[in-house]
Amino acid sequence: MAWFRKKTELQALDTERLPRHVAVIMDGNGRWAKRRMQPRALGHRAGVEAMRAIIRESSDLGIEALSFYAFSTENWSRPAGEVGALMGLLVEFFGREIDELHANRVCIRILGDVDGMPKPQRGLLIEAMERTRKNTGLKLNLAINYGSRAEIIHAVRALAARVEKGELEPTGIDETTFVETLYTAGLPEVDLLIRTSGELRLSNFLLYQCAYAELVFTDILWPDFNVAAYHGALAAYQGRERRFGGRSPSL
Ligand code: IPE
Ligand code: IPE
Ligand code: MG
Repeated sequence: MAWFRKKTELQALDTERLPRHVAVIMDGNGRWAKRRMQPRALGHRAGVEAMRAIIRESSDLGIEALSFYAFSTENWSRPAGEVGALMGLLVEFFGREIDELHANRVCIRILGDVDGMPKPQRGLLIEAMERTRKNTGLKLNLAINYGSRAEIIHAVRALAARVEKGELEPTGIDETTFVETLYTAGLPEVDLLIRTSGELRLSNFLLYQCAYAELVFTDILWPDFNVAAYHGALAAYQGRERRFGGRSPSL
């Protein structure tokens, strides 16, 4: 019965018009904890629970790709205690969730500089990607040690190296080759970007991939972002008219 009640509270969605790729900037964990007079680490822990619920729902809805911003290249500048708590949560997340994610055919990819991660986390991230590589369900991308500017520079260098080796002509560098050199190679471009906690910025997340994304900002702090809030964001997306520079058929 509880299940039935929960489902009826959700905003109705047109299952034919779901976004292929949803990206999420999970923000507000610190403020969530502060409001409860709790340490920030507790807010991050609650944030992981919110993430689990959104992964499940995306998988149930049949969304193709879901990308979470979990740790930015700029987040290293936070106090060592907080960075340590986040690194610990990463280990815990993979330890606890990997079997269930794999059983649900989720394919995990890490977006970011994995080589720049501390050794225990690096090993787990690589293992998670390798283990789930062939899975055909939800494409779950976790941006860790990720910065969009660094990603673009990384791609430019890789293309320059191919030109130097004579594998590629400079004129062969176009949008297709460039996109295939980003961490998100093979994924559809972002259709919907959600940012929680009331901040209205991209904070160096998927700048190229979000060129035509619909943006949904909500004041809800990430640990409070539940399935109902997710349906609200998806319904907002379905209410938008995407023009991609063209003309509206209704004008
Ligand atoms: C987002 O929550 C999580 C990470 C950046 C890892 P914050 O920690 O940024 O929370 P606020 O913005 O300080 O409330
Ligand atoms: C963006 O949030 C990074 C993640 C959610 C991992 P931040 O809290 O780090 O972003 P700013 O500093 O408010 O722009
Ligand atoms: Mg923040």
